[in-house]
Amino acid sequence: MPDVFILGIESSCDETAAAVVRSGAEVISNVVASQMAVHQPYGGVVPELASREHLRAIVPVVRRALAEAKHSYQSLDAIAVTQGPGLAGALLVGISYAKALAFALDKPLIAVNHLEGHIHAVLLEERQKGNHEMQFPVLALVVSGGHTHLYVAEQENEGWTYENIGRTRDDAAGEAFDKVAKLLGLGYPGGPLIDRLAPRGNFRAVQFPAAQIKHRDRRDGADSRQSDNHDRPRFDFSYSGIKTAVLRYVETHNLQASIEGRRRALAKISKPTFDDYLAYCDKQTLDLVASFQHAVVEDLVSKTLAAARTYDVATLLVTGGVAANNQLRERFDKQASREGLPVYFPSRPLSTDNAAMIAAAAYPKFLAKDLAPMDFSAEAGMALR
Ligand code: KG4
Ligand code: ZN
Repeated sequence: MPDVFILGIESSCDETAAAVVRSGAEVISNVVASQMAVHQPYGGVVPELASREHLRAIVPVVRRALAEAKHSYQSLDAIAVTQGPGLAGALLVGISYAKALAFALDKPLIAVNHLEGHIHAVLLEERQKGNHEMQFPVLALVVSGGHTHLYVAEQENEGWTYENIGRTRDDAAGEAFDKVAKLLGLGYPGGPLIDRLAPRGNFRAVQFPAAQIKHRDRRDGADSRQSDNHDRPRFDFSYSGIKTAVLRYVETHNLQASIEGRRRALAKISKPTFDDYLAYCDKQTLDLVASFQHAVVEDLVSKTLAAARTYDVATLLVTGGVAANNQLRERFDKQASREGLPVYFPSRPLSTDNAAMIAAAAYPKFLAKDLAPMDFSAEAGMALR
């Protein structure tokens, strides 16, 4: 099989990314331009600003990815781009650019689901390490700022099929990290910061009752229509209750004044370091952060492992931005090995949004000649099947 070089382009949220990947098995270049500084003052991603930033960044980012890969446009075999899910305006920038490039170069164009990209980030790195053996069925937890999804994945010929067996009923896990950080007067995005602050607090200090992170399992009406297969058990998540519980704790323990003080003090520092954040966190806040992270991590681990047992899977993949979390990795490693279940994560740079994962997910589609028509559009709420 000759080498296949695919250029991946990703613009679904607040990262403009381009990468060249060889045959879904080797990252040749991987460029990510983060818009974090643009959205930081708003404490979350502003869709209109995201689209404008993508437009600004897309040409230089792709040029850099090619230069770092020492590839010319002509030496590429295909162009792959994220079709969805994500912010419609943001997706359209990547898609328009990828279409123009494919048209001008007369190269095949491949549309990729962002969630499938996160799953293939793990496979790409395992192949890179020489591990070509993945036992099926695979259970994949995709846990990020926009998603908390559980899929049972199978391989059929070159292609992959996915059955969704769990999703969040409200907030995604990463969204809860970001919202809790925001309400505590900490920076954006909250996940990486909470990850580093949590070991400084006592995770036993605040007990969040299980009911606050349990979804209301309504098996009627709209909810049951969401399941791929009604006869199979589901493992849904819910993280809006715990965010409200943190807010209630803040109110009942009169933490508002100290949060306001921290917010004001940090706003005066142009680029706060971890030590700045730490210096403005009292013990009560650190304990609250540690307890919050512990509750979310335990819920993700216990539900995912329950799903793994029920569906009798052979391999577990944990991917997406929140998969960068240290405590999450430790707990998954420990609990899965106790059950004899191999668990794989992407490296931290490939856990969060990137384009190498898009180019990797496109490779089996390239082999199967599953190409995108020139009239395809962005799908903000795209499902993975
Ligand atoms: O996959 P990603 O880059 O974008 C989406 O597709 O959403 O994930 C970003 C999310 C954010 O919510 C961020 O706070 C969270 O992942 N995140 C983390 C960590 N690093 C990123 N959450 C917890 N611990 C981390 N170390
Ligand atoms: Zn993502």
